[in-house]
Amino acid sequence: MAINVVKSGQACGATVTGADLSAPLDTETVAEIRAAWLEHHVLAFPDQAMTDDDLERFTLAFGGFGDDPFIAPIDGRDHVIAVERRADETSPLFAENWHSDWSFQATPPSGTCLFGVQIPPMGGDTLYVNQHAALDAMPADLRARLDGKMAVHSARGGYAPDGTYGAHDQATDRSMDIRPSDEAMATQLHPIIRKHPETGRLGVFSCIGYIIGIDGMADDAARELLFELYAWQTRDEFQYRHVWQQDMLTMWDNRSVLHRATGGYDGHHRLLHRTTIAG
Ligand code: SIN
Repeated sequence: MAINVVKSGQACGATVTGADLSAPLDTETVAEIRAAWLEHHVLAFPDQAMTDDDLERFTLAFGGFGDDPFIAPIDGRDHVIAVERRADETSPLFAENWHSDWSFQATPPSGTCLFGVQIPPMGGDTLYVNQHAALDAMPADLRARLDGKMAVHSARGGYAPDGTYGAHDQATDRSMDIRPSDEAMATQLHPIIRKHPETGRLGVFSCIGYIIGIDGMADDAARELLFELYAWQTRDEFQYRHVWQQDMLTMWDNRSVLHRATGGYDGHHRLLHRTTIAG
């Protein structure tokens, strides 16, 4: 089956039609989707009436399931989490800061799949920034200061007991089942500039947030450099704004983009089902 790929016209992202994701995909179609994913980094598949079984099967066609810590899966599933906000919810938005999913793991997920179950009539777009484009256009001086450096990643700022989603957050009316833990204190090193494991293309990997320092560098100097990098790697010209529709699946490449949630839909329910693809 030949798929149709239409570029977003922004820094990354494309819309794919011509494949029915509610049925098993043949190997040729999987290969075409993988090639489009590696080229455009974020793919959107509109009008896909998918069940959780379909979402899991699609995920497995691109690798095993990733390990999703700190968020309980939905009832009856081991690998599907709900990204949800009720119409009357007042808790801070989930995932509002730029990040690459679970970059603090030894082998972070290569990709994430997100399916629109209930999409509000306005707002709730997901933003992406292309980290190959950010590196390609990076001023030589900034790049020279990052080259060869190893970032210290950790989930502590988000998921430790005193993190953003820790004890304080547990007292809010959040609908998502987030489970903070001391395990979030662990650290992991990854190169700041690294080769994409499949394409070999160089890019920036992750950002301040899950990155809490730079190996061998004093904290203040590291923070200053990481904020300078953050200001560069999230610039508007590297971005793609994804506008959701009900029954739309997206898959993105955590190795080449950062993403973040946006609000603007207070008073409306938003529900998406998410899986990760193992790295
Ligand atoms: C996520 O980071 O998985 C959620 C993104 C969103 O809610 O738009």
